[in-house]
Amino acid sequence: MKNIFVHCSLLENQKRFLKNHFVIKEHNANKSNLSTSELLKVADKCEGIICQGNLIDKRYLKENKNILKAISNVAVGYDNIDIEEATKYKIAVFNTPNLLDDAVADLALGLIISVARKICLGNEYVKKGNWKKNSWPLFWGDDLNGETLGIIGMGNIGKKTASRANSFGLNVLYHNRNRLDKDLEKKVSASYVSFESLLSQSKYVVLLTPLNKETKHLINKSSFAMMRKDAYIINMARGKIIKEADLVLALENEIIAGAALDVFEFEPKVNKKLMNMSNVVLMPHAGSATAKTRIGMMDLACKNIVNYLIYNKYDNLVNREIL
Ligand code: GLV
Repeated sequence: MKNIFVHCSLLENQKRFLKNHFVIKEHNANKSNLSTSELLKVADKCEGIICQGNLIDKRYLKENKNILKAISNVAVGYDNIDIEEATKYKIAVFNTPNLLDDAVADLALGLIISVARKICLGNEYVKKGNWKKNSWPLFWGDDLNGETLGIIGMGNIGKKTASRANSFGLNVLYHNRNRLDKDLEKKVSASYVSFESLLSQSKYVVLLTPLNKETKHLINKSSFAMMRKDAYIINMARGKIIKEADLVLALENEIIAGAALDVFEFEPKVNKKLMNMSNVVLMPHAGSATAKTRIGMMDLACKNIVNYLIYNKYDNLVNREIL
């Protein structure tokens, strides 16, 4: 039987399914992430890896290029894997798309409402026993109805976010590498605009674009300067899309009104200044974290690797160039 390495925590039934086909070695990344040097020691001689956003870099791929055949990521994003290097060695990379679209779109709206309506502040205020008299003015927030939401990255999650935003009365703008066709634009009630125009018009700017060379630090000092003074930025994509030091400066200098972040440039490290700002809402990269969604993604990651290594099928293959 082929060896595979599981660098994440799977359910017992998922491990049983894998064990029908492979000898599995595992490391629970919920406890600690392995560095490349550690991974090289424990995950050598493996034809496959299942990981969950853990780093698979050039060095690991180069040293295992003669044995490694497949990497199955329990995530839709795959910026943790050096995809160019994997493709060079014809190592197949798989992801788990579609299943998480609703959960992430739900949290996007959740974060928008949390930051606009000061839900986290109100929660703390009540729980700390500070609510002694009518304190409404402390919690005056911002409306969604009639406001403009700009989505940067109009993939499946973007479309689900747009539909939800429509039902809250938001006008939706979007910017994407490729414009949607007219029918689809109509269906999701979203208007295509330039990047600059989206930033200057939107009260709520939601990031849903993948991280790559073009999008790293896409949102920086000059982007914040283009945004409305009363705007909020919501990052549901990848932390490195925002230059975090510039975000801190934009918030400190009231260039924008606030932020809601599910992802961070150096996660799990979070900038201390962001932690202390009352106009910032933070989540620990939990966009897809509903039980149903995460179990579905883990199931799919297991299926992807079995399908490829055992049955030579390649649904959800990301680097199709290897075929
Ligand atoms: C989560 O961040 C994912 O890419 O699935």
